[in-house]
Amino acid sequence: FGSAASKVQRNPLFSTLNSDDISYFKGVLGEKNVIQDEDKLMIANTDWMRKYRGSSKLLLQPRSTEEISQILRYCNSRCLAVVPQGGNTGLVGGSVPVFDEVVINLSLMNNVISFDKVSGILVCEAGCILENLMTYLDTQGFIMPLDLGAKGSCQIGGNVSTNAGGLRLVRYGSLHGNVLGVEVVLANGDVLDMLGALRKDNTGYDLKHLFIGSEGSLGIVTKVSILTPPQLSAVNLAFLACKDYYSCQKLLVEAKRKLGEILSAFEFLDNLAMDLVLNHLEGVRNPLPPSMHDFYVLIETTGSDEAHSKEKLEAFLLHAMEVGLISDGVLAQDINQALSFWRVREGLSEALLKVGACYKYDLSLPIEKLYNLVQEMRERLGASAKVIAYGHLGDGNLHLNISTPQYDDKILAQIEPFVYEWTSMHRGSISAEHGLGLMKANEIFYSKSTNVFSIAREMQNNLDTDLCTYWNMEVRAKRLS
Ligand code: FAD
Ligand code: MLT
Ligand code: ZN
Repeated sequence: FGSAASKVQRNPLFSTLNSDDISYFKGVLGEKNVIQDEDKLMIANTDWMRKYRGSSKLLLQPRSTEEISQILRYCNSRCLAVVPQGGNTGLVGGSVPVFDEVVINLSLMNNVISFDKVSGILVCEAGCILENLMTYLDTQGFIMPLDLGAKGSCQIGGNVSTNAGGLRLVRYGSLHGNVLGVEVVLANGDVLDMLGALRKDNTGYDLKHLFIGSEGSLGIVTKVSILTPPQLSAVNLAFLACKDYYSCQKLLVEAKRKLGEILSAFEFLDNLAMDLVLNHLEGVRNPLPPSMHDFYVLIETTGSDEAHSKEKLEAFLLHAMEVGLISDGVLAQDINQALSFWRVREGLSEALLKVGACYKYDLSLPIEKLYNLVQEMRERLGASAKVIAYGHLGDGNLHLNISTPQYDDKILAQIEPFVYEWTSMHRGSISAEHGLGLMKANEIFYSKSTNVFSIAREMQNNLDTDLCTYWNMEVRAKRLS
C-alpha cells in the first residue's frame, strides 16, 4: 500500500476539514449522504487493486447536479481538495484519495433521463452502472457501444472520465465518437451544459472532448448523452489457438479483411495468462482440449443475418486453419458457452489479484512490435516474476502484467523506466485506456511533448479558477510550486 503516494507530498495549500464543513455538507445533502463511517470510508479510500489507499475522512454522496455544484463551490472557497469517484474500478490509482481529499461519489445519480428509439441516443446521469445501462437498453433493442470486465461496478461517468476502451472498441470506436454530450460541474461550481444529443454540431470548439478521458482533472461529469447501436441478432464467438504471435497478428489482418463489418471483438491472451485463470479462478476451464498452445484469440462477430454471419465466419476460420494461422478452435454453441469463453478473458484481472502483487501496464504499441516487449521483459526479469500478456489486439493495446508474490522495489527498478522508454521509443502510449492516475501522473512526458503538456496545464488553470480545488492527483499531491 501507499508505495506511490509515499513518493508525493500533500500540498500544504489545502485546508483540512473542520466541523463547520461537515455541518455545511449535511445542510446541503442531508445527514445520511455525508458519510464518516470508518468501514465505508475504508472502501472509498481503497482502490480495486488494493494497491493505493488514501486517508479521506469524508465521503459525500450527492443526488443531483445542483448538489455537486454547491459542494464544489464550497470546497473551492475553503480550499478543500476533492476526488470524484465512480465505481472505483480504475486501475491506476485515480479514483481514490491520495491524502485526505473529500470523496465525491456519484453512485446515487443513477437515473436514465431519456432514450430515443429512433436515434438510439441515451441520456443518463453519470452514476449509472454500465451493466444496468446494458440491461435497460436490452429491453429497448439496443446495446452500449462499450463493454468491459468491470461492467458490474463501473459507472458511465467513470467510463467517460477515463475514456474507457474495452472489448467493443474495434467495432464501435472510442467514447470520443460515441459520447454526444456531457454536463459537467467545474471547480468553482459552475455547471456547463454541453448535453447535446446531436450527431453533428460544428459550432466552434467541441469542448466536451476535454472532459472525455481527463480523469476528473477538469470537472465532475454529471450527465452523459451517448449514441447506442441497435442490438443485432447474429452474435458469434470463436475461441482459437495460435502457435505464435505472428499468427495472431496475421489472423487480425485477415479478420479485418474477411469479416469486415461483422467483426466486433478481437482479443488475445498468451499461455501464461491462460494458466493463470485456470489455476486461480474457480469454474473456469480452457474451451479447447489441453494442448501446448502458446496464444489464444477470441473473435466475436455481430451481424444482422445469422446465415450470412455464420457463412462468413466459417469460411474465414476454415481458411485460417488451412493456412496454419490457427491450430485449434471452437465456436460457442449458445450464450452460456459464449459467456464461459468471455470469462477466460475477462477474469484475468481478478486472477492476477489472487496471485499477489501485480505491476500493471496498459500500452498502445505498433501491432507488429507489441509482443517483443513481453519477450524482452521476460529476459530482463528471469525467474523473479511472471510476465503475463493479454489485451485488445484489434486496437494495438497490450496489457502487460508482471506478477510477483509481493511488491518489491528491486523488481520495480527492473521494469521502470524500461517499459516506458521502450514504449516511447516505439511511439506508443503509456496509457492506452486506463488513464494516468497516480500511477503514471509523472510519466506523461513519455507520451506527450512538453509544449503539448503546457497547453493542457494552461487549460486546467483556466478551468480551475483559484488554483485551490485541484482534484487530479497529479496536482492535488505534487503541485507544490
Ligand atoms: P473510477 O474508478 O471510480 O474513477 C476513474 C477515474 O475517473 C478517477 O480519476 C476518478 O476521479 C474519475 N471519475 C470517476 N467518475 C467521475 C465523474 N463522474 N466525473 C469526473 N471524474 C470521474 N478499462 C478499460 O478502459 N478497458 C477495459 O477493458 C477495462 N477492463 C477492466 C476490467 C476490470 C475487471 C477492472 C477492475 C477494470 C477495468 N478497466 C478497464 C478499468 C476501469 O474499469 C475503467 O477505467 C472504468 O472506466 C472506470 O470507471 P469507474 O466508474 O469505476 O471510475
Ligand atoms: C482488460 O482488458 O482486461 C482490462 O483493461 C483490465 C486489465 O488490464 O487487467
Ligand atoms: Zn483492457
